[in-house]
Amino acid sequence: MEQLHIHGPARLKGTIPIAGAKNAALPALAASLLTDEPVTLTRLPQVRDIATMTRLLVHLGVSTADTAGGRVLRHDSPASADDAPYELVKTMRASVLVLGPLLARLGHARVSLPGGCAIGVRPIDQHLSGLEALGAEVNLEHGYVSARADRLFGARYRFAMPTVGGTENLIMAASLARGTTVLENCAREPEVRNLAELLIKMGARIRGAGEEVIQIEGVDSLGGAEHEVLPDRIEAGTYLVGAAISGGDVTLDGANAADLAPLTEKLTECGCEISESVGGLRLRRLGELKPRDIVTAPHPGFPTDLQAQYMALMTQADGGSTVCETVFENRFQHVAELNRMGAEIEIDGSFARVHGPTPLSGAKVMATDLRASACLVLAALTADGKTIVDRIYHLDRGYEKMELKLQTLGARVERRPG
Ligand code: UD1
Repeated sequence: MEQLHIHGPARLKGTIPIAGAKNAALPALAASLLTDEPVTLTRLPQVRDIATMTRLLVHLGVSTADTAGGRVLRHDSPASADDAPYELVKTMRASVLVLGPLLARLGHARVSLPGGCAIGVRPIDQHLSGLEALGAEVNLEHGYVSARADRLFGARYRFAMPTVGGTENLIMAASLARGTTVLENCAREPEVRNLAELLIKMGARIRGAGEEVIQIEGVDSLGGAEHEVLPDRIEAGTYLVGAAISGGDVTLDGANAADLAPLTEKLTECGCEISESVGGLRLRRLGELKPRDIVTAPHPGFPTDLQAQYMALMTQADGGSTVCETVFENRFQHVAELNRMGAEIEIDGSFARVHGPTPLSGAKVMATDLRASACLVLAALTADGKTIVDRIYHLDRGYEKMELKLQTLGARVERRPG
C-alpha cells in the first residue's frame, strides 16, 4: 500500500490548476446510459473513482474512447447488462447512480446495495422510494436492489432530506418518464446543476436544477451531447485551506469562486485575503488565524466534504472553535489522528471542540476516508518533521496528482511504497 511522506513545515506558494469535479463527473458518466448516441465529456479528473465508474459502464455495455476532444461514451442498449455487481459498488457508493438511468432506459436494473461506509450508514432509501413514486417495483434480495418498470410515469415526490445522489438519480430517471415529475426538497449542490445542464443538452426538459423544486417533463428519448465537467470545488477548497494553514500564497487556476463562497467567507473571517482573478482564485494569509466555528449543511451551507480540512486549520487558530457535523453521523475519524500529531480536539456527539493553537509534530498516521486523508496531508504541512500518511488509496479516489500539485507549490512530498 502506498504512502505519502511529507516533510513539514512548508509554506505553499505558487499556482496550480484545478481538475474537473469528481462528484460532477460521476453522474455525467452515468447519464451516458440514457442514450445510444455518443456523449463526450471533457475535464474528467484522473482519479480512481472515475476509473471505477468507467469500468462499471463498460460492464454495462458502454464503449469508451479517450480522444483529443474528451472521453466519448456510447451505450449499446441491446448489448447491455443491467447489473452493477458488488465488487464494483463496494468500492464506490456513487455506483448507485446507474440505477435510475438503467431502469428508465431498459425497464429493469439490478444494483448491489452499497453497504456501510466509513463515514456513516448512508442508506439509499430516498433513491428507492423516489423511483417507486415514478412507478417502479423495487425489491431488495441477496444484497441487491432489483427495480423494474415497463415505463416510468411522472409524479410528485418530496425527499425526506436533501440527497445529492438521490436527486441526481431521480432527475435522470424522470427525464425518460411519461409525463411531468416534480421533485421537492432537492439537493441544491452545483454538481446537480451541472448534471442537469448535460441532460438538457441531451434533450431533457428540466427546470429548477440548483433550486429546491425541480420539474422534469419526460421525453421519449435522449440524444448525444458534449459537456464540460465543472471545476472541483472540494479540491479547490482543500488547497485554499492548504494555503491558509501553511501561511502561504496560492492561486488556483480554473476555480469557481461562487461555488466556494461558504468556505471563502469563513477563511476571510479567519484573516485570509481572497481575490478573484480572471479564471482563478488567490488566497494569501495575512497574519494570525482567527478561530471561527462552522456547521456543515447541504449546499449552500458549509460542505461536509471540507469539514475535516477546515478542522486541521482550526488547530492553528488563535483560540478555540467548534465544528458541528450535521450531514453524516460518523465523520470525525480524522480527530484521533490529528490528536496523535499534537492537536487538542474533543468530540461531543456531532460537535468537535478544537483548542487552538497547538503546534503539530510529524507522525505516522492512517487515512480512513477520502477527505480525512486530505485533512492529514494539510496538517502535515504545518507539522514539524516527517509525517507518513498511510493508505493513500483513499486520497487517490478523489484527488488528481496531489503530490505533484503540492510539489509545484513548494512542499516536500513523496509517494512511496508502504
Ligand atoms: C454526495 C457526494 C459526497 C458528499 C455528499 C454530501 C457524490 C458522488 N458524493 O454523496 O462527496 O459528502 O454528497 O454532500 O456526489 N441519505 C439517506 N437516504 C438516502 C440518501 C441519503 O438517509 O437515500 C442521507 C445520507 O446518509 C447522508 C445525507 O442523506 O446522511 C446526505 O447524503 P447524500 O447527499 O445522498 O450523499 P451522496 O449523494 O452519497
